[in-house]
Amino acid sequence: MRYLVCLIGGALLGALIAVTIANILGQRNAYPRALMNVMQHDLGQTRDLVHAAQCATPEASAVAERLRIVAGAVEPALLAPDAHDRVLSQYASDLRDAVAALAAAPDCAARSQAVTQLSHACDACHRDYK
Ligand code: HEC
Repeated sequence: MRYLVCLIGGALLGALIAVTIANILGQRNAYPRALMNVMQHDLGQTRDLVHAAQCATPEASAVAERLRIVAGAVEPALLAPDAHDRVLSQYASDLRDAVAALAAAPDCAARSQAVTQLSHACDACHRDYK
């Protein structure tokens, strides 16, 4: 009987520890992943606005502005403090350039091209780092 109690107690403790570790692993990188998901959403919305021929609306500028802010936060979020990674920094810089080109695009034709460039900037970094 005592052995059975020990066995069940041990199994419960093991399960508790496993769940705790799984939670900690799940929270790791939560911040950069959150930034990525916001950019994913805004990229999709920018595409939808281009398809709806709404490229100079306040909504379109608001999305471009949010992309600019979030894209600016990507590099420090991915790099450990004091870490240097020339290639990653180059990809992050390309991302910021692509977002700036998007915001500067005067009409839907230019914006459509800029969206394609932007998604290439995302893919380029993902190929090496994701
Ligand atoms: C400088 C590199 C870099 C750039 C540029 C970049 N990403 Fe990422 N992205 C990553 C890395 C690294 C991960 C993996 C993060 C992790 O799982 O910890 C990732 C993961 C993601 C994910 C999965 C997030 C999740 O919940 O696991 C999405 C979605 C994403 N990126 C979207 C984008 C979009 C959209 C863009 C462009 C607007 C972009 N990324 C640009 C590096 C980048």
